[in-house]
Amino acid sequence: MPKYKIALLDGDGIGPEIMAEAVKVLDLVAERNDLEFELVHGSFGASAYFEHGHAFPDATKALCDEADAILKGPIGLSHEESKKIPIDMQPERGALLPLRRRYNTFANIRPVFLPKELAHFSPLKPEIIGDGIDFIIIRELVGGLYFGKKETGINADGKRYVSEALEYDEDQIANIAKVAFETAQKRKKVLHNIHKSNVLKSSVLWNEVMSEVGANYPDVQVVPILVDAAATYLCLNPGQFDVMVMENMFGDILSDQCGGILGSLGLMPSACLGPEKAYYEPSHGSAPDIAGQRIANPYSMIGSVAMMLEMSFNMEKEARNVWQAMQSVFGQGFSTPDLSKPGKNVKMISTDGFGDLVVEELAKL
Ligand code: IPM
Ligand code: MG
Repeated sequence: MPKYKIALLDGDGIGPEIMAEAVKVLDLVAERNDLEFELVHGSFGASAYFEHGHAFPDATKALCDEADAILKGPIGLSHEESKKIPIDMQPERGALLPLRRRYNTFANIRPVFLPKELAHFSPLKPEIIGDGIDFIIIRELVGGLYFGKKETGINADGKRYVSEALEYDEDQIANIAKVAFETAQKRKKVLHNIHKSNVLKSSVLWNEVMSEVGANYPDVQVVPILVDAAATYLCLNPGQFDVMVMENMFGDILSDQCGGILGSLGLMPSACLGPEKAYYEPSHGSAPDIAGQRIANPYSMIGSVAMMLEMSFNMEKEARNVWQAMQSVFGQGFSTPDLSKPGKNVKMISTDGFGDLVVEELAKL
């Protein structure tokens, strides 16, 4: 019987609650495919800092090193709570960025997907949504401002100053370009290249390398768009997009905007792929304000499981089944309080209620 080890990094806030629902799905998938998922929890994030003095403890690193894939929950604390942790040990800088760097997970895939039947979740008008929303953001994840040189100090005028560099070399750009072109080739063969080359030199090089790599994919049409204009088009006409590629910081911001277009960041799972290892995570934060209340929807966490099944374990059919199971739970009118207001068409359920129904639907497929 094939056996895969999966590191489960529950994270902070709502992390453990939504992770518990993802585990139910993994259990069913293992059982009916005659394989074993060895699921091992590791401490990660603010909770790890308070328990072990480090946001990404050595034991968790060792667990991730030997895992076949990593499923990670959201991390982070409220702005006020964060101040209890030294700046460099705060979970974003102390755990998440080191995780991305350790496995060079340069390709962040964020599906922005809302079938027509679920269009009511979106704040956009039905005439703008049309047949639903279905595109993919491909975000470079280990370069740019996030990982560039940083300096703070006092300048010659005696003023506090800061400098952060947006750094890329041509290989980094080529690597993400290849992922983007290959993804576009498998879909509608249109790739929107998001940049800011009217101001940033980094975008000039980015665009140069995009065209060089693009020469190997003559069947893919490249549409360059300035990042600020892209933000507008995402609201006015999201249907024009199929695959979008962009550098790290642009991707961080636009992918959150996409959460807004769908109606919630809770509807945004993601995959972070490196040359040898991948990890999977919701695109949203740990929502400390609603943690422990069983009202957070586990869609983004279970969707991340679906992406893991497809991308790490080549289980495409089961991945599709998981998506379908979640859509069908929503389709029957069930929802959770973080996503929906009470109303006559909403059957309100808890985090675990949603997970149980997804497993029930999945079992039928
Ligand atoms: C994301 C998150 C992270 C990021 C934070 C938690 C550091 O916002 O994955 O989009 O900025 O990349
Ligand atoms: Mg973000």
